[in-house]
Amino acid sequence: MHSNNKEKPWGGRFGGGTAKLVEEFTCSLHFDRRLYRYDIAGSMAHARMLARQGILTAAEAEAIVNGLQTVQGEIDAGTFLFDPGDEDIHMAVERRLTAIIGEAGRKLHTARSRNDQIALDIRLFLRDQVGVLIEALQDLRRAGVRLARRYFSVILPGYTHLQRAQPVLFSHHLLAYDEMWRRDQGRLRDCLVRFNVCPLGAAALAGSTFPIDPPYTAELLDFPAILNNSLDAVSDRDFIVEFAAAASLIMVHLSRLAEELILWSSAEFAFIEIADAFCTGSSIMPQKKNPDVAELIRGKSGRVIGHLTGLLVTLKGLPLAYNRDLQEDKEPLFDTVDTVLPCVRLMAGVLDNLALKKEKIAAALQGGFLTATDMADYLVTQGVPFRTAHAQVGQTVRFAETQGKELADLTLEEIKQFAPLAEADLFGWLQIEQSVNRRCSPGGTAAGRVAEALAAVEQELGLTS
Ligand code: ARG
Repeated sequence: MHSNNKEKPWGGRFGGGTAKLVEEFTCSLHFDRRLYRYDIAGSMAHARMLARQGILTAAEAEAIVNGLQTVQGEIDAGTFLFDPGDEDIHMAVERRLTAIIGEAGRKLHTARSRNDQIALDIRLFLRDQVGVLIEALQDLRRAGVRLARRYFSVILPGYTHLQRAQPVLFSHHLLAYDEMWRRDQGRLRDCLVRFNVCPLGAAALAGSTFPIDPPYTAELLDFPAILNNSLDAVSDRDFIVEFAAAASLIMVHLSRLAEELILWSSAEFAFIEIADAFCTGSSIMPQKKNPDVAELIRGKSGRVIGHLTGLLVTLKGLPLAYNRDLQEDKEPLFDTVDTVLPCVRLMAGVLDNLALKKEKIAAALQGGFLTATDMADYLVTQGVPFRTAHAQVGQTVRFAETQGKELADLTLEEIKQFAPLAEADLFGWLQIEQSVNRRCSPGGTAAGRVAEALAAVEQELGLTS
């Protein structure tokens, strides 16, 4: 029932053994083992610093570094025997190191605590992951921009309240997502700058009595800065929250696009065809081709947002400094990373393989009075105050509806009953292309504006030939 505490690195002050249930309950090895490379890199840097400061001999440090290399090789190769009695990856590595090199292994933990050790490991881990995610977002942006280029001039009904509103270029619609994804990348870079700080040297919470050199350790681990405050260094998890918030926004953006793809691929919209390779079928209804990838991206946004909330709740009541509650940061962090990355990559695949159904989209431009605002704008150019113009067009739309006609199908005489200042040149304003191209205000959907915007993004993403 109880394991022997004398074998544990902290066993000295304990009389009896640890209850098996407690051992299982407190163990983090099954998830934090994934940090082993970072843990070992941190230990190597720490040992080198200790030797440089004369706290270890050069021979001891060399034995430690070589031993750690062997341990890493074993874990890489899958031959490392994890012992369930090891609480976490830190202890597992140290136990094996000591088994390989003997007494020198027992000196590695001088001037260090698992508290600053784990604070380091997750920073190193997240630093890599943030880089990978920024790259994946870059690839997604490239896919979006390629699609925008492919269908540059397709005009979609733009919606507000999911009611047809005004015509917009499809490429303009896609470039809206590009803006979100660029901001998503910026948020990741921004949080990286804040957490790219080496916490080693905080030790348990108060710093170390040894003449350590944290700037040197930081340099070995490629950190541009070191801790300012030991208490903060071991208890700060702001950066995981910031990352989880950035990840949640990425998922929210993906989820909104996923929702549009799902709607657009329905028979009711039928604007797009998602490639077979990115859909699945139904086990009962033979005709079905379901947009499951988009649905799962939308669905997985819930769990990432949940992790953000969970992390905030875990932190909110913690007194300084380290508390074991902080071990609960890792599974949500890992799951966030493991969820967001494939979603970003899958969305890029969906976009790269998307086909637009141009005739269906063109048909949807009819019947929604999409150029009603253009008629009001036209009347303003004729000297009618906008509010009056708005009312006149409203009445014209009502009339057209009773006739089962579009605005452009009415005669000038019919229109003049409601809008006396309308003239024949109004009919140009009622054309969909003109409606789009008149919106040439900055950031507007006019083809000229969108062409500029698209070219700028292509340049930014290295897509210009
Ligand atoms: N597994 C712990 C964590 O994830 C490592 C630090 C443990 N520190 C301690 N004093 N028990 O936070």
